[in-house]
Order: sequence, then C-alpha cells, then structure tokens
Amino acid sequence: MVTKGILLVGGKGTRLAPLTNSTPKPMLRVAGKPVTEHQIVKARNSGIKELVLATSYLAEVFEPYFGDGSRFGISITYAVEEVPLGTGGAIANAASKLNLSDDDSVIIFNGDVLSGHNLSDQIAFHEKTCSDVTLYLTQVQDSRAYGCVPINQEGRVQSFLEKMDNPIADTINAGCYIFRNRALKQIPNGQIVSVERDTFPKLLSDGFDLFGFLDNDYWIDMGTPHSFIKASKDLILKPELSAATSGVANGCLIGSNAKIHPSAHVGEGSTIEDGVLIHEGCTISGSMISASANVGAGSEIRDSYIASGQVIPPGSKLIDEIIGE
Ligand code: GDD
Ligand code: MG
Repeated sequence: MVTKGILLVGGKGTRLAPLTNSTPKPMLRVAGKPVTEHQIVKARNSGIKELVLATSYLAEVFEPYFGDGSRFGISITYAVEEVPLGTGGAIANAASKLNLSDDDSVIIFNGDVLSGHNLSDQIAFHEKTCSDVTLYLTQVQDSRAYGCVPINQEGRVQSFLEKMDNPIADTINAGCYIFRNRALKQIPNGQIVSVERDTFPKLLSDGFDLFGFLDNDYWIDMGTPHSFIKASKDLILKPELSAATSGVANGCLIGSNAKIHPSAHVGEGSTIEDGVLIHEGCTISGSMISASANVGAGSEIRDSYIASGQVIPPGSKLIDEIIGE
C-alpha cells in the first residue's frame, strides 16, 4: 500500500511571469482552487494519508492555506529548501521527513500537472511489477519540452532523455512517480540534483527496475500562460476531472458578488471572481477574470486572463492575452 507522498512545489514558474511574481505556480487557481489543492484531493481520494510539500520559491504562502492538512482530510508537513535543490534534491530532502521503512514506496507529484489518470491503477501496477520506480507516462505529439521515456512491450523503461531536440519516442514523463525507498536512497542529500537529468539515468545504468505506467487520459502541464488558462477552462467544463472543483453552473464559475449585465454572454469554462463588473454586450469565453476587474461594454474576451482590479476599456478585443497587475 502506498500512503505517503511528496509534492514538488518549489519551482519559480518563470514562464508564467508576471502571474508568478507574487504567487508560486502551484498556488495559482484553476477552476477556482490552487493547483496544489486539486492534487491533494486526488491523492487523498486514492489512499494517500501523509504528504510533504517540498517548497522553496515563496515557500511562506503554502502553510497558511493548507495548514496541517486536516481541512483536506490528510496530514501535510513542509520541507523548505533555503536554496532550491532541484527536483531530485527536493525529493531527498522531503523524503527525510517521512518515516520510511525499507520496503515503503512514496508517490511524488510535479506541482503543476493536472491529470485524469487513475492513481490507484498506477499504484496497483507498481505493486504488481515490484519495480523500484513506476513513472506515469503519457503520449504527446511533440515531446521536445518534456522528459522522453521510451519503454519496451513489458513497460520497462529503456532510457530517460530530458528535453531532447529530436525525441526518439512519443511517450513522456507525465510528472508522477512512485519510488521504492531503496531507489530514493540513491539520491544524495543536501545537494542540487535533477531527478530527470541525474537520478533516472543513474538508476537505469545501475540496474534498478524502472517501469512506465502509460495512461492517455486527460493530462496537462500548466507551465505556460496558454496551458494555465486552458487547464482552468478544461476543469470547469469537465468537473469530473477533479473532486476539488465546486460551484460550476452553466459551464462557468461565477463569484458571489460579481455583477454581469443581462445582455452579456459568459461561458465556455470561464471564471468570474468576486466583485467583477461585466458591462452590457460583453462576450467572455474560456477566460479568467480576477476579483474586482471591470470589463467595459461590448468587450470580447476569449481564452485570456485578467488580473485583479484591471479596467478593460469598452469595445476591447482580447484573445489569448494576459493582462497582468
Ligand atoms: N522543491 C522544489 N525545488 N521543487 C522544484 C524545484 C526545486 O528546486 N525545481 C522544480 N521544482 C518543481 C516545480 O515547482 C514543478 O512542480 C516540478 O518541480 C517540475 O518542474 P517544472 O519546471 O514544471 O519542469 P518541466 O515542466 O520543465 O519538466 C518536468 O515536467 C514534465 C511534465 O510536466 C520534467 O519532470 C519533465 O521530465 C516532464 O516531462
Ligand atoms: Mg512543468
């Protein structure tokens, strides 16, 4: 049984600036809740009882929101890196906070991934194969931005090639691993280590058993503005993807004090936060309009993000845009 996990939430989220200037990427809200909350609820619903949040960049914002986890029905503790230790270093540091026996396995999540994959099936696959590491894989058309992970017919990982220019497979690391403790112990403590560039290749060359669990259900890495806006829209349109999503009505999420003119059309997975004003004749689709923003009459906003308090002049047309603070 796998009951312990680590969430990697310490990255800087550079590609999402300016949204990540004051909010770490995992705390950005999609379908009204921080990405991390969607992940925590999914982990809890799959039998995880204890989670360590591996934080670094803006570490102080996580604990006030998640506390000891009791509000979410799970135990949460924090492993803070004064200096970011990289994905592998973060895993080793967080694992040292878990009381692990030799045969224990730990599930590790990249903090910016939302997926519909069945975690319980991944855990069952890990137990059936008795592997040292079980990586959740998905297939994409262009693997260049990801870890390329070719597997054989049995599912055995052949190599791990992070961000190749000419990928040799379309199966990629989808950012959720199960590590047996003997594999975790191979990661040096207190050093900067990349799990993708250092640990996986080393485990393979040292003869550890790594298996890929391939699942082609919904998957998104919300590392770019476009994918962040899409993730929120997708979760609202398919609330079954996350048990943490609530309050969806007519394909959107509308805050309690938002004022939407009756002639305006708001839909297709949009989020309209508290205190927003949408004036007459506006069309808003697939977009996130943050608290107290004011959208002038006749504006059209599609697949865009508007930060809190922004004033959008009447007649604006915004498509695939980020209007930051
Ligand atoms: N604690 C901590 N410390 N967390 C970190 C650090 C660190 O030094 N560096 C990165 N992280 C966290 C990020 O916050 C994020 O949740 C996760 O590790 C992955 O980092 P990204 O920056 O999002 O990596 P990526 O998207 O370029 O690539 C990774 O994810 C892909 C799938 O989404 C790799 O794991 C790829 O192999 C994978 O395909
Ligand atoms: Mg990412």
